[in-house]
Amino acid sequence: MKDAAPRPIRLSQYRKPAHRVDRVDLTFRLHPSRTRVLARIAFRPDPEGPGGPLRLDGEGLRLIEAAIDGTPVTPLIDPAGLSVEAPDRPFLWEAEVEIDPAANTALEGLYMSNGMYCTQCEAEGFRKITYYPDRPDVMAPFDVRIESDLPVLLSNGNPGRAGKGFAEWSDPWPKPAYLFALVAGDLIAHSDRFTTAEGREVALNIWVRPGDEDRCAYAMDALKRSMAWDERVYGRAYDLDVFNIVAVDDFNMGAMENKGLNIFNARYVLASPQTATDADYARIEAIIAHEYFHNWTGNRITCRDWFQLCLKEGLTVYRDQQFSGDERGHAVKRIEDVQMLRARQFREDAGPLAHPVRPESYVEINNFYTATVYEKGAEVIGMLRRIVCEDGWRAGLDLYFDRHDGQACTIEDWLAVFADATGRDLSQFALWYSQAGTPRVTLSSRIEDGTLVVDLRQDVPATPGQPEKLPHAIPVALGAVARDGTEALATQHIVLTRPHETHRFAIGTGDAVVSALRGFSAPVVLDQPLSNPDRALLLAHDTDPFNRWESGRELARDALLRMVRDGAAPDPAYLDALGPVLADDTIEPAFRAMVLALPGDDDLARSLAEGGTVPDPDAIDAARRALALAVARRHEDRLAHLFDSLAEPGPYSPEAGPAGRRALRGAALSRLSRIDGGARARALVESADNMTDRLAALTALVAIGQADDALAAFYDDWKSDRLVLDKWFSVQVAAAPGDSGAQAAARLTAHPDFHWRTPNRFRAVIGALGANHASFHAADGTGYDLVADWLIRLDPLNPQTAARMSTLFDSWRRYDAGRQELMRAALTRIAGKTDLSRDTSEMVGRMLA
Ligand code: PHE
Ligand code: ZN
Repeated sequence: MKDAAPRPIRLSQYRKPAHRVDRVDLTFRLHPSRTRVLARIAFRPDPEGPGGPLRLDGEGLRLIEAAIDGTPVTPLIDPAGLSVEAPDRPFLWEAEVEIDPAANTALEGLYMSNGMYCTQCEAEGFRKITYYPDRPDVMAPFDVRIESDLPVLLSNGNPGRAGKGFAEWSDPWPKPAYLFALVAGDLIAHSDRFTTAEGREVALNIWVRPGDEDRCAYAMDALKRSMAWDERVYGRAYDLDVFNIVAVDDFNMGAMENKGLNIFNARYVLASPQTATDADYARIEAIIAHEYFHNWTGNRITCRDWFQLCLKEGLTVYRDQQFSGDERGHAVKRIEDVQMLRARQFREDAGPLAHPVRPESYVEINNFYTATVYEKGAEVIGMLRRIVCEDGWRAGLDLYFDRHDGQACTIEDWLAVFADATGRDLSQFALWYSQAGTPRVTLSSRIEDGTLVVDLRQDVPATPGQPEKLPHAIPVALGAVARDGTEALATQHIVLTRPHETHRFAIGTGDAVVSALRGFSAPVVLDQPLSNPDRALLLAHDTDPFNRWESGRELARDALLRMVRDGAAPDPAYLDALGPVLADDTIEPAFRAMVLALPGDDDLARSLAEGGTVPDPDAIDAARRALALAVARRHEDRLAHLFDSLAEPGPYSPEAGPAGRRALRGAALSRLSRIDGGARARALVESADNMTDRLAALTALVAIGQADDALAAFYDDWKSDRLVLDKWFSVQVAAAPGDSGAQAAARLTAHPDFHWRTPNRFRAVIGALGANHASFHAADGTGYDLVADWLIRLDPLNPQTAARMSTLFDSWRRYDAGRQELMRAALTRIAGKTDLSRDTSEMVGRMLA
């Protein structure tokens, strides 16, 4: 049995630190298994703090010696850190510890990846490097000396002295320990320069393993565009003489914004046309921007405590979304972001893991790097901007940077700048940070004597620990489209604040269809009883691109739900409505590709469950395939024309235009493969000169069970390229038809290249199985068992990744009794594992509660 569950940390229990740090001086003597870390830290008691002895966090450290003001001391050491009496005045703490990077498989603290040393300190990894007050409200400038024979030695800030076997770095900007970073290895730089608007010359370097240096150009280009964008749009310039990025193969997350030394999962840096898809390029651009933007929203202004995580993450996701929209087009970007939000955040909000954007308690903070904190956090920023309008947004942000530069802040600080800059009362708006759950907005409308009357109702569902909710402030953008397709009412911006509201608008027609929640103006579920002809009208004519797409999606969803629930045939009205969109070459190809996409299985399962029907994964999968086949039959000529005419003539370019054409061509191919026996895909998989086309063709072949030869050839070509090999693993599981992905995953976990300790490879198989709804939910439970087995195996080595992946089970209560029982058994088996990590045990505990 397990020990008593660890006690949760609560927001309400925040206390100021007893000691502040004036400066940090670190020396690293690197050794794979016996690294020595010497720390000289200038402390000062905080008169506003609680007083008491010096308390430092520390985990897995071997203390060699410690002294205060030069006098040796013997601290009281426990598993979480140490305590020692300290003078009631400024003093110097000196400590030497020994750590073992080679044994660090959790990839938190100082660890090794393919012979290279690197660090990951957010959220609480610095305490695995040395004893320190490891909390974000303790900020200090850092000086670092690294001693090692490796050729490249990097840390935060500006470079100082360097010579044979050592290098020194100095970061003048006070920072919390979670932004500390160190890298040492045999690395090659792809270098460039940037001159800031303030006239600072910045050296830019992307450091990679030898052999990867020709795959950095796109990331570098994205970095320079990000730097220019933040100057142009927010007046924020870079503030050091160098900006370093390092690509590492073993990384738990996407990337990390360490001051002046961003560390990236290699898959979000390295790209060439032959190895990366258009989607990879877009993600690289977004993540490079995201980490760079953190320099101001996260680093210069950081979080007081980890409950405020959305202060930096929601805002920085919002900023990277705006950047990508500016670079690639806002309509398509918004649709992609909402698809992601629904797939991940709405799902989270609807299940046992629902939590507010600013959580109020946690056991393990690593479990709160969630879609709610990040993506819903970004939606909340977008709503705030809509509510305070453009002027208020600019004024509020300027005030935020002015007032809080160099501070560790809270959501209250963030909202106060907008209240102060605009004179608005944002107390109701603040509920978005504290209430979990996706609000449901029900809309009905009628036209009376030239007036459009719109009734709106809002309901916020109960979530774990929050049975009762108050009404939110919900910005609703709405317009109306007349029967002849013209705009009957231009977009109106209202803010719903009460449970029920009626709004009236003068309108010049007796009959029009309300186009509500334009641009997806709030993260809510909209319940609007529209007939399918109304939806077809909006799909054809809405001036709001998001709602055009949304109407098509609603038609598809309705058709699929009727197929699943009532065994209906594919709806001819849906098939008809697609025709004009496919044929209209004035509509952006990327947008048409998104209209052609069907709602995902998991989305459909959630819709069914919310409507009171137990979702049957096999029936959902069968319905999606039948509808895709019907689309192919009905539109074969148009799809074939698109496939033939959209072939890109010139060399590959990752820009949005050509990428959109490839997306539409790929979508056409996936439909056509259902009726041509895979002939086109087989030809393309051989002739493609880029990974986007090749993988689209391979995916189409896997989906029809015709991929054996193509997979073997792909493996031969790419077996020595870890990032491409991840795709080879992943496609076989994610795209497998019916429930066959479960066997595919079982087979692949026995493959000699299944290096499961590397998170990317683990996710390529186990994560891909979770993404294949019908296979994960295979009725015999083989999918569940496989995932549970591997989580149990991974947990002792890498708790963070194991815990994150355990969320695949979060929707277990949606399904039939048989599947529920199997999933509950899998969760219980994980929960009962001896020495289960705090990370995973918190997650399975919440899912079983
Ligand atoms: N702070 C990182 C980001 O959002 C994410 C991250 C969190 C990375 C924790 C590693 C560990 O950019
Ligand atoms: Zn971030």
